[in-house]
Amino acid sequence: MPSLCLATLGTRGMSEIAEKKPAKPVVLTCAQPTGRLHLGNYLGAVLNWGRMQDDYDCYFGIVDQHAITVPHVPAQLRDNTYSCLAQYVACGLDPARSHLFAQSHVIGHTELAWILGCLCPLGQLERMTQFKDKAKKQQSVDAGLLFYPVLMAADILLYNAELVPVGDDQRQHLELARDLAEKFNHRYSETFKVPSPFISKVGSRIMSLQDPTAKMSKSDPNQSSTVYVTDRPEEIRKKLMSAVTDSGSEVRPGDDKPGVTNLLAILSACTGRDVPTLTAEFAGKGYGDFKKAVADAVVATLDPVRLRYDELIKDREALNAIFKAGAEKAQATAFRTLSKVNRKVGFVERPR
Ligand code: TRP
Repeated sequence: MPSLCLATLGTRGMSEIAEKKPAKPVVLTCAQPTGRLHLGNYLGAVLNWGRMQDDYDCYFGIVDQHAITVPHVPAQLRDNTYSCLAQYVACGLDPARSHLFAQSHVIGHTELAWILGCLCPLGQLERMTQFKDKAKKQQSVDAGLLFYPVLMAADILLYNAELVPVGDDQRQHLELARDLAEKFNHRYSETFKVPSPFISKVGSRIMSLQDPTAKMSKSDPNQSSTVYVTDRPEEIRKKLMSAVTDSGSEVRPGDDKPGVTNLLAILSACTGRDVPTLTAEFAGKGYGDFKKAVADAVVATLDPVRLRYDELIKDREALNAIFKAGAEKAQATAFRTLSKVNRKVGFVERPR
């Protein structure tokens, strides 16, 4: 094809020629800018996302548009969005390898959500357990809360994500995203990859330090239950040394030992050593020694995170630059999907 010049290939063709690498599968996950990340978020989620960055083309979204589906304070939302970005980067999400972006910076999430919403039975949204739970807690419910899972489906499909790391509580929402992808493909033509949930086993259930039968949570009224990634070493030690343990004095996992089991899971996730090895190591030692070892391991794990966060959060310019780079990349992908989708749906091509 002698007449095919670089100009006709466009930028996509150029970058493919430059890289000559097969495209990596896309991983996407998003989180609401809800303030502080805790040890459960870190060990159960963010750490694992970080480990995917070399093998996948990773998109990490901070979903501020989702955050306004429940009552919120605007200034807090803005601060939390910056703080979230700083925490994610401090936790190892790397803007040089991955695309970190704010949902509202990318045109396409709400546009695609509208189109998907026109394929989505109302009853399926009304049956979502998270919708019902959240609706119960509010005096009046806005349409946005009902539409939340459709927006989430759009977040995923806009980037043709193959794998979506999510917590168990998001399984039902992901199922909807799969349904909508299949429906669109069936009604129009093959367009979207059908995304799979990626639910990691390691560290995925870090429990409250005061009630090890409940998940560690930011909204726990007893704040000594929850270690935050930005806690100072003294706070971390205090919380871990006062963690609830179980009757007996043996350090071993078991259904009768939810407190010790949780601390072993934390120690294992922080040190990379497995639970049987740790159990053998603590044979004959008491809870005191054990808890001190857990506290040391958590401090060693989180201290670099906190130090990096403290630096970043002061540097709005750096944070804005990360958002800008992430939005540019995300927008390019989003526009590509959106123009394809608009054409298939039957919208007239936008006059240039
Ligand atoms: N609903 C998710 C949560 O609260 C956040 C979310 C929004 C998300 N869009 C997403 C997660 C897309 C994964 C993929 O945790």
